Amino acid sequence: MTHAPAWDRRHFLGLEGLAAADLIELLDRAEAHRAAATGPAPRLQVLAGRTIANLFFEDSTRTRISFTLAARRLGADSIDLTSAGSSVGKGETLVDTALNLQAMGVHAFIVRSSASGGPHLIAKAARIPVINAGDGRHEHPTQGLLDLLTLRQRLGELRGRRIGIVGDIANSRVARSALHGLTTLGADVLLIGPPTLVPQAFERIARGPGQVSVQHDLDAALPGLDAIMMLRVQFERAGGGPPLISGDYRALFGLNAARAARLPAHAIVMHPGPINRGMELDSDVADDVGDGRSAILQQAANGVAVRMATLATLLQSE
Ligand code: NCD
Repeated sequence: MTHAPAWDRRHFLGLEGLAAADLIELLDRAEAHRAAATGPAPRLQVLAGRTIANLFFEDSTRTRISFTLAARRLGADSIDLTSAGSSVGKGETLVDTALNLQAMGVHAFIVRSSASGGPHLIAKAARIPVINAGDGRHEHPTQGLLDLLTLRQRLGELRGRRIGIVGDIANSRVARSALHGLTTLGADVLLIGPPTLVPQAFERIARGPGQVSVQHDLDAALPGLDAIMMLRVQFERAGGGPPLISGDYRALFGLNAARAARLPAHAIVMHPGPINRGMELDSDVADDVGDGRSAILQQAANGVAVRMATLATLLQSE
């Protein structure tokens, strides 16, 4: 078995190749930040005097806002650059944009791009830490961490658990980061959806110890799952190619109340957002919060804590 090089903690670009110990340390650190992330605890000062730059070249709600809140709750300032209204609209490259902001004295970049590898290009050129906030179809590592944290809070130890990820796996950076993190921590992942969206080759992408398997029948998989993560069909990634889905996607792969009732009693329902209500997930399942199955808003809350943990880990070890 080949071993990935140890994570150097300069950048945070993906969960692939991170050791279980690194993941657990980040999750523990996020757990320690929970009160400061969402509760009444006072803002910390560990990153006082630092400025975090959000470079978002693709739309975002939860990720961008939670990085901003995370920076502020650690005592840092944050600034936002989006492609609309910046010189990216005039053709300036991502790297030129980043190097100019670095010259103005920012201390870290949070980068989202529609191109896979966008944050990696900036990381190669920059002197300061880069965090991947979602690159094309590739990875979304802080989303992966918040998914792991939510699962650990709800289910405890993840080793031996079976997690279903349903929908547009082919186009999903959320699925890729989740499956690397989950299998590293020993959970098995079932990728569920139509063959066009769930290629068989995904069975070979993780290093383990958890296993990845592909399943095209959602109803058959439900009773064996400890958690089910529903994904949005990302129509915007189809480009000029063939339509991503055909036939009645909702009838085959949508999670409605009748299907949710076939999950084991302890199983939880997750979604990274944004939800297409009535498509991959029905409202009565999505809104079953409190003591119910839905962990969707817990995921959003955990987003602030894991982003605090990531920023503190990269910037305090500088
Ligand atoms: C996702 C994303 O942008 O990768 N959302 C998120 O970050 N919470 C998933 C999506 O857009 O469907």
